[in-house]
Amino acid sequence: RKTTIITAPFSGGQPKGGVELGPEYILDAGFEKQISSLGWETTTLHPLESTNYEAMKTDDKDKYGVKNTHIVNECNKLIYDAVYKTLESGRLAITVGGDHSIGTATVGASLTHNPDTCVIWVDAHADINTPKTTDSGNLHGCPLSFLMGIDADSYPPEFSWVPQILKPGKLAYIGLRDVDQEERRILKEHNIPAFSMYHVDKYGIGKVVEMALDKVNPNRDCPIHLSFDVDAIDPSFVPATGTRVEGGLSLREGLFVAEEIAMTGLLNSLDIVETNPMLAETEEHILDTVSAACAIGRCAMGQTLL
Ligand code: ARG
Ligand code: MN
Ligand code: MN
Ligand code: MN
Repeated sequence: RKTTIITAPFSGGQPKGGVELGPEYILDAGFEKQISSLGWETTTLHPLESTNYEAMKTDDKDKYGVKNTHIVNECNKLIYDAVYKTLESGRLAITVGGDHSIGTATVGASLTHNPDTCVIWVDAHADINTPKTTDSGNLHGCPLSFLMGIDADSYPPEFSWVPQILKPGKLAYIGLRDVDQEERRILKEHNIPAFSMYHVDKYGIGKVVEMALDKVNPNRDCPIHLSFDVDAIDPSFVPATGTRVEGGLSLREGLFVAEEIAMTGLLNSLDIVETNPMLAETEEHILDTVSAACAIGRCAMGQTLL
C-alpha cells in the first residue's frame, strides 16, 4: 500500500513556541524510512511550505474569545486539501504536527472523503471546547466541536469552510484525564464514548480499545481516523509536549492502541501531534519524545504485524 506523510509545522493553536518543529525532528529521526521499511510506498507533502504562520501568531483573544483564528484556518485549509487529495488518490494520510488544531483539517478531510469514517481520538484532553466554552482561547482545545457543529452560533466566520460532518456516534476517546467542566457536559449531552485513564486501569488497555471500536465501528467495516496526541502518553515517557498531564498511558499502552488499530486493517488516516522539542529540559527528553512519536507511527502502520 501507499502512504503520504503530510507535515504540519504549526503552533498557532496554542501559545507555546516549538511545536512547529515537531515534523522536522520526527522526519530527521528517519520517520519516512521507518515507514517505507515496513513495505509502504511513501512520499511527503509540505502544504505549509510557502507560508510563515509563526510570524503572524499573537497571544490575544479575538472578539469570539479564541486566538489566531485567521492563521489557524488558513493553515487548516491547506492541510485539508493535502489530506483530501492524498485520500482521494487511494493513499493513507499520515499528518505530523504541529499542534492539535490541525485535527479540524485532517478529520474534516477524512470524513469528506468517506462519511462512514470513525475517529479514535487518543489524548489526555477532549479538545471539544467551543468559542463559547473555552477558558484558554487556544484552538487546539476546540477542533472536534467545529467538526460537530457544537455551539455553531459562536464560531468566527473564518470557520465557515469546516464541514460539520462528525456525528457523536463516530467519535471515541482513549486516555482522557484532563477534561474541562463544560467539555464534560458536551460529552454527556452528545453521549460521546470516552475511555479515560480510569477505564484503562479498570479494564486494561486491550479491553478499552475493543470497547472503543465496538462503539464507533461495531461491524469493523468503516475506515478509521486515528488522531494521536502524544500527551496521551505519560510525561515520563513523552516529556516534550505543551500540555503535560500526569497519570497517562504507559508507552506500551500508547503503542498498543496504535498496534490494535493497525490490526483492524481499517486505518485510513493518522495524526501524530503536539511533539514540542523546545519544551525538553534535556537532550534525552527530545530523544524520548521524538522516538515515541515515530514508534506510534510505525505501530499504526503495522510494524507489529510483520
Ligand atoms: N482543555 C484545554 C483547553 O481548552 C487544554 C487543551 C489541550 N489540547 C491539546 N491538544 N493538547 O485549552
Ligand atoms: Mn481572517
Ligand atoms: Mn492533549
Ligand atoms: Mn489534543
